[in-house]
Amino acid sequence: MAKSNSSAPAKNPKGTTQAASVQPVMNQQFDAPKPLQKYGTVSQRLPIGLDEKTRQQSVTSLNQLLADTMTLRDLYKKHHWQVVGPTFYQLHLLFDKHYEEQSALVDTIAERIQILGGVAIAMAHDVAELTTIPRPPKDREEAPVQVSRLLEAHQIILKNCHTYAKEADDAGDDGTNDVVVSDVMRTNELQVWFVSEHVVDTPLVNAE
Ligand SMILES: [Fe+2]
Repeated sequence: MAKSNSSAPAKNPKGTTQAASVQPVMNQQFDAPKPLQKYGTVSQRLPIGLDEKTRQQSVTSLNQLLADTMTLRDLYKKHHWQVVGPTFYQLHLLFDKHYEEQSALVDTIAERIQILGGVAIAMAHDVAELTTIPRPPKDREEAPVQVSRLLEAHQIILKNCHTYAKEADDAGDDGTNDVVVSDVMRTNELQVWFVSEHVVDTPLVNAE
């Protein structure tokens, strides 16, 4: 009979030591099985009463809206950091408020895509390929230029919202229509109002 060694690590049922079993298994991404679901496809896993064609159309539209919203969100943070000038304090705070609101929209849109059985676009590389919002320079720009750039981005999103809301309504996807109108469109319209007031050319001292 083998002599037991009380200082040896305990063995689990598979015969490996407990110390070995708590090690994370690294590098699984380099020899991964095929993905659970390919980007661009929709599953019918969740029973929400919508056919595949409708889900596919809504997911395609929502992924475009998601990429553009993530880009606008990041544009707000860029401008929050880089803004200078006499309106610094107002714009610094306003840009960050809008960044937070756009971040909330990003989550709402992405989760709607999951509910429809799609795969939400997520990473900056992929977002950069899909978005239609023009790429800003890395440089610091003057506040009026920042504001004009933001308003252009809002308008691109809002024009798409009108198209996507009508498509979703026609297809009977009321949930997507509601997200596009009640969340994305309303938020963007309100932000356009607040941002636009900063580039109205009006005298501040003498009434006209
Ligand atoms: Fe900040």
